[in-house]
Amino acid sequence: MDLSVEGKAYINGSFEQCCIGVENGKISSIKKVLKGDVHLNFGYKLILPAGIDLHVHFRDPGMINKEDFATGSMAAAFGGITCFFDMPNTIPQTTDINSLSDKIMTASKKSFVDFGVYAGITDNNINNIETIAKKCNGFKIYLGSTTNTLMFNKQNLKETLIKISSTNKPVLFHAEDDACLNKYKTIEKNLVDHLNSRPAICEETAIKNILETSKGVNAKVHICHLSSCEGLELLKNRSKNITCGVTPHHCLISAGRNLNPQTHFKVNPPLRTIFDKETLFNVLRNGFIDVLESDHAPHTLDEKDAEFNDAPSGIPGVETIYPMFLYLVKQEKLSFQCLVSLLCEKPAEILNAHKGKIKVGNDADFIVVDLKKECKISSEKLHSKCGWSPFNGWPALFPDAVFVRGEKVIENNEIQVSQGFGKFIGE
Ligand code: DOR
Ligand code: ZN
Repeated sequence: MDLSVEGKAYINGSFEQCCIGVENGKISSIKKVLKGDVHLNFGYKLILPAGIDLHVHFRDPGMINKEDFATGSMAAAFGGITCFFDMPNTIPQTTDINSLSDKIMTASKKSFVDFGVYAGITDNNINNIETIAKKCNGFKIYLGSTTNTLMFNKQNLKETLIKISSTNKPVLFHAEDDACLNKYKTIEKNLVDHLNSRPAICEETAIKNILETSKGVNAKVHICHLSSCEGLELLKNRSKNITCGVTPHHCLISAGRNLNPQTHFKVNPPLRTIFDKETLFNVLRNGFIDVLESDHAPHTLDEKDAEFNDAPSGIPGVETIYPMFLYLVKQEKLSFQCLVSLLCEKPAEILNAHKGKIKVGNDADFIVVDLKKECKISSEKLHSKCGWSPFNGWPALFPDAVFVRGEKVIENNEIQVSQGFGKFIGE
């Protein structure tokens, strides 16, 4: 056995003082006492499954002034995320085999943690879905325009869903209806204007359309970044093949004049009312939401410095998502079971990753957490290239150590592997 790790590990829904054995990067046994070639004893500290972020924009290729696979994956690693899934709205957009292969090659050279990629569906590649499926972990469809959007005509939705269903890969939706967005669009001076120009009815319209169109089609559908009570209501009786995700920003922050600078909180879908925010947090902690996703969407400080109406939408979050929620667990705002399901188990299930659970046969991806070591998030100490965070000053619990496939990736606040350690999990 290459390695054994001892501590208070989260196994099958509860904590056990035990040892996790690792061979060839996989968990080979879990027992009270084990001795590998190397034995690490973390004593009273917690060993939790590492997080999986199924929604990030690492901007590589084409916008590496905002982020690239090295900085994005380093941020992920420091935040206890050992696998991320990258969105297709890069330059070029990943919509065919070539762009997907190029992106996978770049990330394989640069990433510190494991990864997957999505293919964007546009009006032009619907007929190639089966071929494209061989190179991607899932698909992304934008029903409304946002940053560097891939245009998709909703008339094609049924046909697209049927084609995707035969690939067995999930399809993720940005659920804001474009016709609706155009109807409400105004010049925006602040976050309240932004909310009014992208009202909840646009999310509701898009989700209604997705639910109706996917009836009778057995596609694996994921609704990204649910942000409104109206959208939530529609999903209450969803069938098993439909999952939904919430971001930290939508369930922890509401739109208001008090947020500074306003552009740092400009995001699509927009931050909404206190009532939306509180309802989302409540359903999240009650097990109604499937996934917690960061929608890490960095832009540079310069870009965010523009007039509100011209500033790009999107906020970073891959490094803070797990630490912030670990702190909320410590505060008893939600349970370990709930958080691990949201950030580890469910994303693994949706993306078919052999991760997310400390169990024999899975990749040995876990984090070590000392519940006593809480700190305040500091933008300067984060690793995203963008250099800012809307969560600056918020309390959090960062992991002491992070393991990917049995290899220590983070310890003593330093990265322990080189670029390219991360692997594409698709092939
Ligand atoms: O605010 C957003 N930013 N929403 C999106 O859907 C895209 C993202 C980005 O890529 O910047
Ligand atoms: Zn996104």
